[in-house]
Formats: sequence, structure tokens, C-alpha cells
Amino acid sequence: MSVVYYTASSLDGFVVDGDDSLGWLLSRDIDGAAPFGYDVFRPTVGAVVVGATTLRWVLREEGGSWPFTLPTWVFTHDDGMQVEGGDVRVVSGDVTQHHAAVVESAGDLDVWLMGGGDLARQYADARLLDEVAVQYAPCTLGSGAPVLPTRSEWELVDHGRNGDFLCARWRVVRGSGDS
Ligand SMILES: NC(=O)c1ccc[n+]([C@@H]2O[C@H](COP(=O)([O-])OP(=O)(O)OC[C@H]3O[C@@H](n4cnc5c(N)ncnc54)[C@H](OP(=O)(O)O)[C@@H]3O)[C@@H](O)[C@H]2O)c1
Repeated sequence: MSVVYYTASSLDGFVVDGDDSLGWLLSRDIDGAAPFGYDVFRPTVGAVVVGATTLRWVLREEGGSWPFTLPTWVFTHDDGMQVEGGDVRVVSGDVTQHHAAVVESAGDLDVWLMGGGDLARQYADARLLDEVAVQYAPCTLGSGAPVLPTRSEWELVDHGRNGDFLCARWRVVRGSGDS
């Protein structure tokens, strides 16, 4: 089991632009069934971890209902959050506290850390983030929310092109003394 941060980014490392828009991303060509595509990635995951802002963005895009049937763990300070559809579990605080339950809910499959970048940072800083898979769109944004705003070390394990995107996957390099 791995925790995999699978996301898209601009060339300059932002997952969302300064206007909180994904127009720069969703207008591009990508083949979901080709290597690094969503249809290839999706069967490898058994649970989703997501920040409240990303979850709210998906709900807006999907007409108010959470589209994933996988166990979904949403981090929010709104402990009264109600989400229509799916199997959404509301949690908050230290990501480490929830890790055993998240992993168990994924069964033998990986955990998809959907984002955003600050939640990915919390996982990386807690040494719970195992892999990063990024599809880079052919544009720069100049500002926005960064893909992974922390210091960390990674080994490149795969790379390729899918449509307009340069795609890569990295495995974490843990320092001595880490588990
Ligand atoms: N490029 C891509 O592939 C991609 C994909 C999906 C989304 N996005 C974009 O990314 C943006 C969201 O990124 P983001 O980094 O701003 O937000 P985010 O990580 O999705 O959500 C941040 C929110 O999550 C909650 N949160 C995070 N850690 C928490 C913790 N430990 N305990 C309790 N609550 C916690 C807080 O919500 P509360 O305010 O509720 O407390 C916080 O304001 C969206 O605009 C979306 O459009 C990009």
C-alpha cells in the first residue's frame, strides 16, 4: 500500500491559479486510458484523502454530489459538513492520527491523496506520503497554490508523455532513521 499524491500542475508548480480556476488545466488534451491517465490510475486506489476546498470544488463541478464510491476522507474544520453521495468521512487535525483507518479503508489498494498541496505537505512532513505522480500542463501561471510546498527528496521511477502533458512519478527517498 502506498499513499500517492496524483495531481496536475502548471510548469511552474501550481495546482490552481490565483483566481482559483482550473481552466488552464481542463482545456488540455489527455488520454485517460494511456499511461499516467486517470482511467489507468483509478483501479489502483481503494480510498481517497482530500482537503475541504478541493472537495467543495469537485462538488460544484459535479452538481453537488460526490462522484466517487471509494471511502473518502475529507479534512475540514467543519465537523458538521454534510456531503451528498459516496462514502465521505469527515476528519480533522493531525493526519497521522487518521492514517491507520485510512489505510484500512483502502484494503490492499493504494490511497489517492487528491490534494490540495497543503494537505499533501502535511502528509509529506508526517512521512506518510510515498509517491507523487504529476501531469505537467504546458503553461505557467505565475502564482497560485503550490503543488507541494515543503522540502523533500524523491527518486524518479517513471516518466512519459500523455497528450499535452509531461507526466512523471516519483517514490519518496526517506532519510536514515525514517521508517
Ligand atoms: N491541479 C489539480 O489537479 C487539482 C485537483 C483538484 C483540485 N485542485 C484545486 O486545488 C484547490 C484546493 O487546494 P488547497 O490547497 O487550497 O485546498 P485543500 O487542501 O483542498 O483544502 C484546504 C482546506 O482543507 C482543510 N484542511 C486541510 N488540512 C486540514 C487538517 N489537518 N485538519 C482540518 N482541516 C484541514 C481546511 O478546510 P476548512 O476551511 O474546511 O477547515 C483547509 O482550508 C482548489 O481550488 C481546486 O480547484 C487542483
